[in-house]
Amino acid sequence: MKIGFKASALSHSGAAVVFVLAERELSASARELDRRSKGAIRRAIAHSRFTGARGQVLEIMAPAELKFSRVVLYGLGKASEANELAFEAAGGEVTRRLLASGEKELNFFCDDLKGAKIACGEAAARIAYGVRLGSYRFDKYRTRQKAEQKPSLKDVIVACEETAAAKAAFKPLERIAEGIFFTRDLVTEPANIIHPESLAHECRKLSSLGVKVEVLGEAQMKKLGMGALLGVGQGSARESQLVVMQWQGASRSSQPVAFIGKGVCFDTGGISIKPAAGMEDMKWDMGGAGTVIGLMRALAGRKAKVNAVGVVGLVENMPSGTAQRPGDVVTSMSGQTVEVLNTDAEGRLVLADALWYTQDRFKPQFMIDLATLTGAIIIALGHENAGLFANDEQLAERLLGAAKAEGEGLWRMPLSDEYDKALESPIADMQNIAGPGVGGGSVTAAQFLQRFVNKLPWAHLDIAGTAWSKKDRPTSPKGATAYGVRLLDRLVRDHYESK
Ligand code: BES
Ligand code: MN
Ligand code: ZN
Repeated sequence: MKIGFKASALSHSGAAVVFVLAERELSASARELDRRSKGAIRRAIAHSRFTGARGQVLEIMAPAELKFSRVVLYGLGKASEANELAFEAAGGEVTRRLLASGEKELNFFCDDLKGAKIACGEAAARIAYGVRLGSYRFDKYRTRQKAEQKPSLKDVIVACEETAAAKAAFKPLERIAEGIFFTRDLVTEPANIIHPESLAHECRKLSSLGVKVEVLGEAQMKKLGMGALLGVGQGSARESQLVVMQWQGASRSSQPVAFIGKGVCFDTGGISIKPAAGMEDMKWDMGGAGTVIGLMRALAGRKAKVNAVGVVGLVENMPSGTAQRPGDVVTSMSGQTVEVLNTDAEGRLVLADALWYTQDRFKPQFMIDLATLTGAIIIALGHENAGLFANDEQLAERLLGAAKAEGEGLWRMPLSDEYDKALESPIADMQNIAGPGVGGGSVTAAQFLQRFVNKLPWAHLDIAGTAWSKKDRPTSPKGATAYGVRLLDRLVRDHYESK
């Protein structure tokens, strides 16, 4: 699908998308189409419940006097609330609806709206970004798709006065979208295709963008003493991997920022095996790693002026004759020992060594890890917010701000010594799950991670509820969301790039 910008006024083919503000206030283009169609637009509104409230859509097929196949009215709500996210949602929502509708061409008319939060060039770029993100499909395993099921949209044109500004603003957004699509693809792939070695291979592809990629196998990790990570993978026929990706976009001396991802390519639970129902979802238990990989692609793609490190621990958690048993004690790279009471609490074991390795080798400004870590975070927050745990107020505030700006829900959760005590083990430095009756499963999981942070500014994002969506969202069709790529790209852009 091609997306372009054009300054010209109304063209005459394909579908037209025009905006309507709250209380049926037509944009200039909507008024123009209404005039040319002898009032068809206002008549359609009068016969419907469409008021122009944010997110409302009304489709008018083939209005008389117009050559457009259809006119789509999109409600933006109050002009004063028409921000970046509102325009993105417009682009995404309309694209998802018309993607396989038979329509080939889509024309958005992005007028300068009085009182809007952003200029029309920026608004046009955001519409285009929404179009791109909303057009995501994963069709590679469909071999019998009928012609009428395939996407029909070929050309999307965003008409606006400030085309140069729109093109310039869209350029980095396209690179971020590529990172997001990379994440969505990796997370959607089944576990027979994406396993530790093949995922490491996907990481290596980032070297074409200037990312330095190193892959550590089991022998190297053993030398480093990563007994916690290796224990999780020891029941699998696949070799565990640790991938280190480095993007150097700032001066050599600039201290890096670091992102760490849980990459459990499939989580059966191990010997503490999960129930059969829904186990297929555990192919996306590498969602944290997927986000880190897509983020590195976005940062390198748009040549962010920052030094960034991405570290992903890639394992498969399987039951077998060589698998780790409940009660086993492993020694982590930090030297701390862990009694593994439940082999299904494996993500924290992987992250324990990945976090320790990252702080030890890179001494970063901060570490942020992402993990589909606990079912409990879904109980607490559902699917609209990820859980944020942080030991640093400034980092937490910045993350919350970036999340709000990018429309990715994020909610702060607590940490404290009282929760930490629940991890005391009778025979080792800690156990990997809290004792009975403690509750707060996401908090105790975060407390476990904190023991491997070594006092650096650190934040943990539990994305078990947000990495995958069972419903369509405006800029994210159901399935892998790539939650976190936007938020962390924004965090870097707003606070950590050199000028
Ligand atoms: N990968 C799961 C968490 C998960 C659950 C992610 C549902 C996405 C959807 C994790 O490894 C896990 O199994 N956690 C256990 C921890 C428990 C054994 C302490 C859980 O949440 O039940
Ligand atoms: Mn598990
Ligand atoms: Zn898991």
